[in-house]
Amino acid sequence: MKKRSRRQFNTLIAGSGLTSFFNLSNKSSANNLKNKIIKRIIPSTNELIPIIGLGTSSSFKPSTLNKNILKNRKNVVEALLKGGGKLIDTAPSYGKSEKIIGQILKSSGIEDDFFIATKVRSNDYNKGIQEMKNSFIDLSQNTIDLIQVHNLVDTKNKLAVCREWRDEKKYRYIGVTHWLPKIQNNLISVMNSEKVDFVQFQYNIENREAEDRILPEAKDRGISTIINVPFGRGRLFDITKYTPLPQWAKEFCSSWAQFYLKYIISNEAVTCVIPATSKVENMKDNLKGGEGRLPSKKERLRMIRFLEEI
Ligand SMILES: NC(=O)c1ccc[n+]([C@@H]2O[C@H](COP(=O)([O-])OP(=O)(O)OC[C@H]3O[C@@H](n4cnc5c(N)ncnc54)[C@H](OP(=O)(O)O)[C@@H]3O)[C@@H](O)[C@H]2O)c1
Repeated sequence: MKKRSRRQFNTLIAGSGLTSFFNLSNKSSANNLKNKIIKRIIPSTNELIPIIGLGTSSSFKPSTLNKNILKNRKNVVEALLKGGGKLIDTAPSYGKSEKIIGQILKSSGIEDDFFIATKVRSNDYNKGIQEMKNSFIDLSQNTIDLIQVHNLVDTKNKLAVCREWRDEKKYRYIGVTHWLPKIQNNLISVMNSEKVDFVQFQYNIENREAEDRILPEAKDRGISTIINVPFGRGRLFDITKYTPLPQWAKEFCSSWAQFYLKYIISNEAVTCVIPATSKVENMKDNLKGGEGRLPSKKERLRMIRFLEEI
């Protein structure tokens, strides 16, 4: 069973001053799922997953935490679900992100509708185990969908524990992550030597190295891909800040965010993209990037050329 008991959750938030805030029922949100979003197959199980998810490394790591901020992040998570998205990527190292997500999911009573991906990073064995244990408490889950070895720290040993815990049904999938394009060879060597369900890495219209080896390798090996840093941490929006979306691109997208996301997902080896946002409007915009027609090969080249000429 995936859900923790209501009593366990109440204990978790007791004393946080947030009890009344989280005493909400948003079951209706789950009924508003739109089916327009593109879904891709997780090859190791054939489960379908919506192509747009939510990253949380900076957007769910506010410097201060208050009711307004929590309400805002809850609205972002609800927008993800309402727009047909599912995957939320977090990590113990993302400040209070796991705790915030755990509280939101439990309070809305819809946690089973999400696909939660977290990570383990500590180089120290015991600290790593503790990180893993804490994630279940903070996320308020008995089963976490995906555990990823964060930035390839102590990969072999960590994957061995993750695998054991997956066999005990604590996790459903295991994987590895990195974000630096220059680490491509290390990720590929893990994909060749370890059996993983997921690999997460950076890929965007500016950093296209993944197209050469990681994406084809993942496709050949039946490994799902999660794409991080899809907007270059927001840098891509600086490039097009004063440039209107060209008419030809409006045939398949209606914002720069959708332009960038559609470049990524038009690569068929991409399973899910996890743009981070702290804004409901941007979440909705990003989800639209996972709907409708995708650019052709010719259009993809035109997209690259257009940006290079700005
Ligand atoms: N090693 C790893 O495992 C690793 C490393 C890096 C990242 N990641 C994962 O990947 C996720 C995504 O990467 P990232 O957070 O570095 O950066 P990103 O998703 O490339 O960019 C996030 C930035 O884009 C802005 N943004 C989002 N949607 C927008 C929209 N529709 N219009 C305009 N601006 C928009 C956000 O601002 P607003 O908040 O204002 O919307 C934020 O400043 C992370 O959150 C994390 O979950 C993992």
